[in-house]
Amino acid sequence: MTAQPQRPPFGSLLTSHMAVASYQGGRWSDTEVKPVAPIELSPAAHVLHYASTCFEGFKAFRRADGSIHVFRMDRHIARMRQSARQLVLPEPDPAQLRAMVHAVIDRCREAVPEAPGALYLRPLLIGTTANIGAASTPSVEASLLVLASPVWDYFSGGAKPLRILVDDVNTRSAAQMGMVKTGGNYAAAMGPTLAARAQYQADQVLFCPGGEVQETGAANFLLLRDGELLTRSLDPTFLHGVTRESLLTLARDKGYAVSERVFEVGEMLEWIKTGEAALSGTAAVLAGVGTLIYRGAEHRVGAGEVGPLTRDLRARLVAIQQGEAPDPHGWLEAV
Ligand SMILES: Cc1ncc(COP(=O)(O)O)c(C=O)c1O
Repeated sequence: MTAQPQRPPFGSLLTSHMAVASYQGGRWSDTEVKPVAPIELSPAAHVLHYASTCFEGFKAFRRADGSIHVFRMDRHIARMRQSARQLVLPEPDPAQLRAMVHAVIDRCREAVPEAPGALYLRPLLIGTTANIGAASTPSVEASLLVLASPVWDYFSGGAKPLRILVDDVNTRSAAQMGMVKTGGNYAAAMGPTLAARAQYQADQVLFCPGGEVQETGAANFLLLRDGELLTRSLDPTFLHGVTRESLLTLARDKGYAVSERVFEVGEMLEWIKTGEAALSGTAAVLAGVGTLIYRGAEHRVGAGEVGPLTRDLRARLVAIQQGEAPDPHGWLEAV
């Protein structure tokens, strides 16, 4: 076996170029593709004071034949427009945003890593109106940027089973903002996540406000056991993951009984005595949980390893993404 080269941490490396458009006077400008460089922003820009910002994250994959395919970009663009609406920001035009993503990939094709790496695409929308008295006035100007980053492993441990702190005190966002992919939600999760890391060596916090299992700071949460999958039903309190939806589809295809409903910490702790738990997201794909820490006690998930159902479901999704298995749901788009 050859030694793995040292990889930069997820998201720390950008491609040479980005795509940029701005919204002014009620319309979007043409797209510009230019070298990644600092952007100019008024110190009074709305985003810097009132957090008028949202973003997306999805991946493009290079196949053995050199072709490049993006995974479910339409769903991510729709979610970004929904985030923009909720934040009262100008909505990106879907055709323009799609073309911006294509333009960045085209300009940086050589930077798309081979499998199991991918090119992570990061559209970002920020409110740029200069006004420090706009706490209850929306930004009427905005910038839309598409950044790209070659990525390998999100959790640096790779397939290591995760340690997750179950937190039924803190919330990761205001109830109506959970489904919005906005920076403030990540800021809110930062403190609890760092504290969990320091105190329990936890990789992530599973937020369970009021005892209801919700999601972690950067991924959705699934429970699996023979022929069954359980996850929280969609509501505005958490991010509606595209990976979650894709995995649920693959699980149904495989004959799983998929339950989407509200469930509580007690039911989860029962489930994991024999079942599996996993985090789903673009970055993590499907990452197995080995330990849940709840009110100071450690609960082993199954055998404490990444379970076989988690590995199987993850492999099915990855095979489709990398073009090694058919794409029956039409999730990939060639660039
Ligand atoms: C808070 C949160 N939940 C869930 C997800 C998963 O969403 P998706 O599968 O669309 O990447 C993410 C992003 O990856 C996230 O940041």
